[in-house]
Amino acid sequence: MKGKVTLITGSSSGIGAAIALKLWSLGANVVITGRNEKRIQEVVNKCQNRDNQRALGMRADLLVDKDIEQLVAKTIKEFGKIDILVNNAGIGTTVQLNDQKYIETFDEIFKTNVRCIQVLTKLVVPYLEITKGNIINVSSFEGLRPNPVTMVYCMAKSALDMFTKCLALSLGPKGIRVNSVNPAAIRTPIFQTVTENDKMLDCVEKYCKTAYPLRRIGEPEEVAELVAFLASDTTASFITGALIPIDGGSLRADLSAIDYINL
Ligand SMILES: NC(=O)c1ccc[n+]([C@@H]2O[C@H](COP(=O)([O-])OP(=O)(O)OC[C@H]3O[C@@H](n4cnc5c(N)ncnc54)[C@H](OP(=O)(O)O)[C@@H]3O)[C@@H](O)[C@H]2O)c1
Repeated sequence: MKGKVTLITGSSSGIGAAIALKLWSLGANVVITGRNEKRIQEVVNKCQNRDNQRALGMRADLLVDKDIEQLVAKTIKEFGKIDILVNNAGIGTTVQLNDQKYIETFDEIFKTNVRCIQVLTKLVVPYLEITKGNIINVSSFEGLRPNPVTMVYCMAKSALDMFTKCLALSLGPKGIRVNSVNPAAIRTPIFQTVTENDKMLDCVEKYCKTAYPLRRIGEPEEVAELVAFLASDTTASFITGALIPIDGGSLRADLSAIDYINL
């Protein structure tokens, strides 16, 4: 990773922050971005100063196309190239078809979890063509299996997975790899944000202890290890178009048998 320039969206929190810190620990330059300036700075501060390596914090709301343009322009101005793009920023929802806010929420989820990634990737690919870089999309195991509670999120992640597969085919001949990681429940603030319930992470953790074959929730650092593996041209040189579950075995388990509401 030494000398590589990595742009990780949603790196002000959770999985994205863990990915940025992992790539930094391997010697990469990192662009740390999100909407919350304070949290961006906290992650930047964790990247201890080293010669010939920089962590650049940049606020960008990915729902604003101009912010995305500036994110790419500033990265290029600062580093002159991009080697690795990690499309990690994302939001969740439990909105149901009969809810009044269904269409509004649907648009918001698809804008953040699908559309923004198109805008950013379109701008970054010309730079990846020069570096023969690669893209990693942070999807979800819910792109791979249906869950009625999070239907819109499942649909968005499924769309992202198809983007990964198609883009791998079109960019492969240019020497650009495109892969996806598909995590199950990982310990981050996302559960609290989605449900506005600060006990939700505890509930999810309890559920994982019962339902997942590995009997626990995942940690952001475990996803970061997998992303680092895929990002490396040494370890993953012949891997493209892959959707890799990191799920404690849960995709293989019959989760429908577990009543998680009454655990
Ligand atoms: N945690 C899980 O169990 C899990 C499982 C499977 C997949 N995932 C996926 O993993 C990814 C990261 O999620 P996480 O769990 O780490 O959640 P998180 O801690 O809530 O982090 C989400 C990140 O996305 C950023 N973000 C959201 N909307 C944005 C926008 N409009 N513009 C710019 N940045 C935006 C947030 O930035 P600010 O906070 O600064 O606004 C934050 O850095 C998501 O794509 C999620 O779907 C998570």
